[in-house]
Amino acid sequence: MIQPVIIAGGVGSRLWPLSREQYPKQFLSLLNERSLLVNTITRLDDINHRPPVIVCNNEHRFLVAEQLRESKIDVGGIILEPVGRNTAPAVALSALYSAAQDEEDDPILLVLAADHAIRDVEHFCLSINQAIKLAEQGYLVTFGIVPTHPETGYGYIQVGESLGTGGHKVAGFKEKPDFATAEQYLASQKYLWNSGMFMFRASVYLEELKHHRPEIYNSCINAFSSIEHDLDFVRVNIESFVECQSESIDYAVMEKTDRAAVVALDAGWSDVGSWSSLWDISDKDKHGNVYRGDVITHNTENSYFYSESALVTSIGLDNVIVVQTKDAVLVADRHAVQDVKHIVESIKHAG
Ligand code: GDD
Ligand code: MG
Repeated sequence: MIQPVIIAGGVGSRLWPLSREQYPKQFLSLLNERSLLVNTITRLDDINHRPPVIVCNNEHRFLVAEQLRESKIDVGGIILEPVGRNTAPAVALSALYSAAQDEEDDPILLVLAADHAIRDVEHFCLSINQAIKLAEQGYLVTFGIVPTHPETGYGYIQVGESLGTGGHKVAGFKEKPDFATAEQYLASQKYLWNSGMFMFRASVYLEELKHHRPEIYNSCINAFSSIEHDLDFVRVNIESFVECQSESIDYAVMEKTDRAAVVALDAGWSDVGSWSSLWDISDKDKHGNVYRGDVITHNTENSYFYSESALVTSIGLDNVIVVQTKDAVLVADRHAVQDVKHIVESIKHAG
């Protein structure tokens, strides 16, 4: 039976002003009445799986526990990180924890980002079923998306020889290439985007991490050596985890391992990375507008409006993003929303 592991410790700063450090995007209900985190778990309803393990920052423990409780989700444990050390250590802790639940078993982990949207759940499940067979054979399986533009915020997977069951070996993995390299990859048609979801046996991940990043592996072993349980919460040794190097699974393991495989994922995947990607995947009216909350528009097209507590109105505008919260308003060109990071930086410096 597969063990879902939900990595939920990111900050999601590109969705400011809604996504905040205290309340990052994975906990927001951006697409329907449930949060992205809860959607990530309920999407697995048709797959036979163990109760999910969540790894998140200690500061968000009550948010996570409350959202799971409200949605009546049975949880296998909520591992609390005293500080964020990126995804390689987060996955290592989950692998150690999941393996410790049943000494006889070397569970197959399905590592999912907490903040993705997937339109076609049926196709998603098909890809997962393909991936299980490869993970059982000892591969670290990635889920590859056909790229549409030279995105520099993603990992790129070079597709290698066929493994027969619908999957391929990974001939090369490049995390976040520069623009020129991304353009070259796109033109070659030999690459897929890394969706940021993975499937592997706990032991296989730990072996690869130990081999390629022994310092991270050792810090996680030490952090895990004195875990404490408190209801569903699992606390690790603070000093050892604080000492751990910060690195993503992509740089620490996926770029280095020669045991990676890829299965195609054609399921309307989005990492909900920005306001414009949220506009892309949301249902629109006949003018191409998305409305959340109290909004009235006139002669306005292809725009996204989010109102938390005020009436938001617009006249004669195209391609804008307007997000109103109780203490901040964002008005942006829909094609320039990646630059919201500059606003977030300015606020940090001013504060
Ligand atoms: N527990 C925990 N701790 N979770 C974390 C941490 C951490 O320190 N840092 C990030 N996460 C979670 C985020 O909440 C998110 O669900 C997931 O891990 C991925 O982190 P991101 O920060 O969003 O990664 P990225 O978008 O830069 O890159 C990854 O995803 C891309 C696709 O969206 C990589 O896997 C890329 O290769 C991939 O293309
Ligand atoms: Mg991301």
